Amino acid sequence: MKNLTVLSHPLLRVCVTALRDKATPPAAFRRKLSEAAALMAADVTRDLPTKTVPVETPLAVARGHALKREVILVPVLRAGLAFLDPFLGIMPEAKVGFIGIKRDEETALPHVYSASLPASLAGHDAIVLDPMLATGGSAVEAIRLLRERKAASVRLVSLVAAPPGVRAVHAAHPGVAVFVAALDPKLNSRSYIVPGLGDAGDRAFRV
Ligand code: PRP
Ligand code: URA
Repeated sequence: MKNLTVLSHPLLRVCVTALRDKATPPAAFRRKLSEAAALMAADVTRDLPTKTVPVETPLAVARGHALKREVILVPVLRAGLAFLDPFLGIMPEAKVGFIGIKRDEETALPHVYSASLPASLAGHDAIVLDPMLATGGSAVEAIRLLRERKAASVRLVSLVAAPPGVRAVHAAHPGVAVFVAALDPKLNSRSYIVPGLGDAGDRAFRV
């Protein structure tokens, strides 16, 4: 699929396996989500635009690089929170916005219950963090909020995706690059990813 990158570092595949395992308890589940994000972060940010800047070494002036635009990291509550720290680890100067979205348990339609974002995201590269991309409804809404605010680019990072979710994001937001660690075959009748890893928010936070 165009604009979809399935990352396959061996350590990432090992992490996904632990996360799929229903015996993995919440503390280990949160830790593994964080490890997975750390393994994905360099690839997700690989093509962030840079500009050249001079830098003074102790000996001379060298040609250096700085990010061309501000980066804003946007975890989608709740599960996306577990992805935040590793991304901040490589981009400590990034801004952080928060979007709260909950799927309706009957219809699987997304309900946006909170958005804490700058009024304008012009001149910002946005990175949406949400481990699960199932129907795509939540991601489509999250990205809509960022594009409404004129983000210069939007990337979406998920751990596990299903094809309907990727298609929905690309149909609604064609320019968005999607990065995942696993593309699973399908959704079940309740719109859960199969085989997936279950409900990521519930498994991370126990409710
Ligand atoms: C999960 C997940 C995504 C969404 C994906 O959140 O973290 O945000 O479902 O499903 P979709 O692609 O069909 O929209 P959930 O709604 O369960 O909220 P929670 O993390 O607070 O439990
Ligand atoms: N949300 C989850 O946490 N898991 C799924 O499989 C689908 C949506």
